[in-house]
Amino acid sequence: MESSVAATAPEQMRADLAEQLSARKWIKTSVIDAAFRAVPRHLFAPAGTTLQAAYADDVVITKKNAEGRTCSSISAPWLQAYMLEQAVLRPGSRVLEIGSGGYNAALIAEVVGSAGTVVSLDIDADVVANARAALDRAGYPQVQVVHGDGELGHAAGGPYDAVIVTVNASDIPPAWTEQLAPGGRLVAPVRMRANTRCLTLQRHGDHLIATAALQCGFVPMQGQGRDPGRSTPLRGDDIVLAVDDPSTTVDAEALVAALRTPRAEVWPPVTAQVDEAGVFESIHLWLASQSRPYGALTVDRERVTDLLDPDNRFVCPTLLTADSFAHLTLRQPERGVYQFGAHGFGPGGAALADDLAELIMAWDETHRHGPGPRITVHPAGAPIPATRSVRLLVPRRHTTVAITWPDERHDREDQV
Ligand SMILES: C[S@@+](CC[C@H](N)C(=O)[O-])C[C@H]1O[C@@H](n2cnc3c(N)ncnc32)[C@H](O)[C@@H]1O
Repeated sequence: MESSVAATAPEQMRADLAEQLSARKWIKTSVIDAAFRAVPRHLFAPAGTTLQAAYADDVVITKKNAEGRTCSSISAPWLQAYMLEQAVLRPGSRVLEIGSGGYNAALIAEVVGSAGTVVSLDIDADVVANARAALDRAGYPQVQVVHGDGELGHAAGGPYDAVIVTVNASDIPPAWTEQLAPGGRLVAPVRMRANTRCLTLQRHGDHLIATAALQCGFVPMQGQGRDPGRSTPLRGDDIVLAVDDPSTTVDAEALVAALRTPRAEVWPPVTAQVDEAGVFESIHLWLASQSRPYGALTVDRERVTDLLDPDNRFVCPTLLTADSFAHLTLRQPERGVYQFGAHGFGPGGAALADDLAELIMAWDETHRHGPGPRITVHPAGAPIPATRSVRLLVPRRHTTVAITWPDERHDREDQV
């Protein structure tokens, strides 16, 4: 009796997880639903992981590096489901997964079937060995697990109908697009000015166009593409400022001194419903898209209640000068409603808070209800047609990402 309960429990938990993901619209198609019901996620988790933890809609950490930071994990099911739906896989598809572990590769193998090809690549020999063993144990010997640097892709198995990147990148190396079959999709988390979005990219001539962008987080890329950005602790790990632009200098001492000054507050009349979809993603990327020195604060909320009240504890949009900063904040004027505000610190904190409030209002008036920004990826150095719309260019080694906020007041022709 006990053994039959133990044998059926994981199946029931998989079914429950699939139902949850469908109810929350992360799973949209029956093939992805079937994959989540089929693959035994617990067989890919480290020994000692409970079934509850293996089938929760959450990350399972599988490895930490020498500094104690997570360098490998089984990604959260909602994000895996989203990425698989975005990749639009079919029976017979050829897929390259960059960043392995085995579980996601097994999901892909379920969808592409025996006529398909799955290559799963990881830079870490331990991850490769564990993924291989778990895939064999779970019944997916056909998945190829390759040890290598994802920056170079895996040309031998290409061209691929989809390249799915499950590690945080700051750039799109040429291999990822070169190894895509015509019409193929590249689904990759890309960091743009400290904001990571999972981009679904398709090739159009010499550039890529994002057809979808979703806020997400992944472990950072190692190897040739390693580019963690700059993080400046302002109070140990309690307050850390991430700055992505090489041209923006951060004077940590001056910003620490700014923290000790009285706070300036500005509350523009812009509110959002607590459960309003996409609103934070939109305002964050809008604020990051401005041509001003910009950073993102990560804050341990409980340990800094006396100092900072960021809108988001992981990525809080922040405008900067040499000795001052202003960040996005929120208050709840009534139940179920947030009001956006700006908190400024330092000698120029009040002016920066005013500036941030103006930007919040401009977003509310012009972009909040629009189609969102257009995100395109161009080879580094390639000409990008000019526009009068607000646009951020993120220059990296291989590419320039352009985030353009279409504005009906400007000519349509001057958008990329
Ligand atoms: C979040 S885990 C992958 C999760 C996995 N796809 C799953 O089944 O859920 C990210 C992985 O990327 C790997 N990684 C980091 N840099 C890499 C690189 N340059 N090339 C290939 N893999 C890399 C890490 O070793 C880690 O195992």
